[in-house]
Amino acid sequence: MSGSAVAAGSVRIFDTTLRDGEQAPGAGLTAAEKLEVARQLARLKVDVIEAGFPAASPGDFEAVRRIAQETRGGIAVAALARCRDGDPQRAVEAIRIAERPHLHVFIATSDIHLKHKLKISREQALAEAVRWVRYGREALGSDAEIEFSAEDASRTDTDFLLQIYESVVAAGASTVNIPDTVGYAIPSEFGALTKRVVDLVGRDATVSVHCHNDLGLATANTLAAVQAGARQVEVTINGLGERAGNASLEEVVMSLRTRPTQFPELVSGVQTEQITAASRLVSYLTGFAVQPNKAVVGGNAFAHESGIHQDGVIKNPLTYEIMTPQSVGLTGSQLTIGKLSGRRGLQGKLRELGHDVEGEALDALYRQAIALADAKKDVTDADLLALVEQRASEVPASVELVGWSVTSSHGGNATGSVTLTVRGEDRSAEATGNGPVDALYSAVDQALHGQLGWHPVLTHWEIKAVSAGEDAQGQVLVRCRRSSEEGPGALVVSGHGLSTNIIEASLDGYLVAVNKLHGAEINGVDVAFVGQRTAENLP
Ligand code: KIV
Ligand code: ZN
Repeated sequence: MSGSAVAAGSVRIFDTTLRDGEQAPGAGLTAAEKLEVARQLARLKVDVIEAGFPAASPGDFEAVRRIAQETRGGIAVAALARCRDGDPQRAVEAIRIAERPHLHVFIATSDIHLKHKLKISREQALAEAVRWVRYGREALGSDAEIEFSAEDASRTDTDFLLQIYESVVAAGASTVNIPDTVGYAIPSEFGALTKRVVDLVGRDATVSVHCHNDLGLATANTLAAVQAGARQVEVTINGLGERAGNASLEEVVMSLRTRPTQFPELVSGVQTEQITAASRLVSYLTGFAVQPNKAVVGGNAFAHESGIHQDGVIKNPLTYEIMTPQSVGLTGSQLTIGKLSGRRGLQGKLRELGHDVEGEALDALYRQAIALADAKKDVTDADLLALVEQRASEVPASVELVGWSVTSSHGGNATGSVTLTVRGEDRSAEATGNGPVDALYSAVDQALHGQLGWHPVLTHWEIKAVSAGEDAQGQVLVRCRRSSEEGPGALVVSGHGLSTNIIEASLDGYLVAVNKLHGAEINGVDVAFVGQRTAENLP
């Protein structure tokens, strides 16, 4: 077998948060944010990071290339490509520098897709699949991983599916993937399908599965496939992904760990203590909140409300906890930094929370934490994590806030004024609105329009308290596009603001979004938003 066989006794964890996860509507990330997530995935020790779809946009190409360049320690970097002239070449170009390049080519194989989407015959699909697998093998050499996916495999005629897998393995594929693209499969049938593929090509290639969650069965189908012999699972943090999402990494990995007798002698190399940090970072950067009752990473996953449960857990946690909070990186401690805490104390605390911070980044966080300790009574774990996350989405700022003021009263309009520096020049404006945030955003719009030729258009706004108490920090999430761009292809970016003053947090978030929009306009791929893809080029 070419490529690298999965070690006996292990399941290869292929994380596709940065590719399929990023296809969730509105989840797009900048190249720099993708790099932050990739670093966290490396700390989590997944086996493969699917970094993106290089042919989809210059931003995606650049993000994949940077991740391929930076990721080391035996972690493979995968890039997705359609079996279509141009795509695989672009993907190879992006991952060639990776320590372990992993090319992932796909073509739809179900009659529904062949007839209505691709408008080609089965024979043509098979020929294209073989052609581009062979290309990948020749371009990247015998050590690289070449994966082939039969899109919509679970609705494909089984005999044709087996024929195509056999042909691509003969052409050099080292992994064959069975996507349940529309989340249609049921565990027993998906397990049986996986077994047929394993029996046919399992000696020569790794069999992989990729399950979507349209019927809420993605994790169940993935686990059934592992029991049937699959040795690569394609998963995302928080189950993020197209429509109802993909199988979630944390559910699959914790199932393998918690139920070893169901998966005899099968382990993953994932550092499960990094799961909570990964979940929070992905949720923060994509702006997709994790539902409180989400398995493993939901806010209530380890909370025991009823008296009977609390009593049992106090007597012995095993009564109601099948895994410990510590095993997924929840520390349990709450009170942390005070004005007298030192840098080392902060560093230790952050390490406990899954973040290794040092040097200048630690100094800056320390200053922020101490300033926060002046503004609120207790600086909690949640406050510290919010500060760390805030830094992960920093962007170069050509528009900066100098000052603002607002008046607002019961039953009346609000009037706000702002002063900004826009590319080094001071700009002030005043506006009214139906509330303080509306008034200030209108003032920002006025100050910007003359300078940039556009102003931001707000498409989403939300706020949450980072911790309990009246003095909590407010974390604001906004999504915006440029007034000069409209329609489905328009670039939509997110911005976060964090402050104990929620008006300030609202303005900060708005200006982060403005700077991303402006950065994408002037710098192209440097800060390009990788989620800006056309519907046509999405898998
Ligand atoms: O869901 C799917 O079929 C995919 C493939 C490209 C693997 O994401
Ligand atoms: Zn998918």
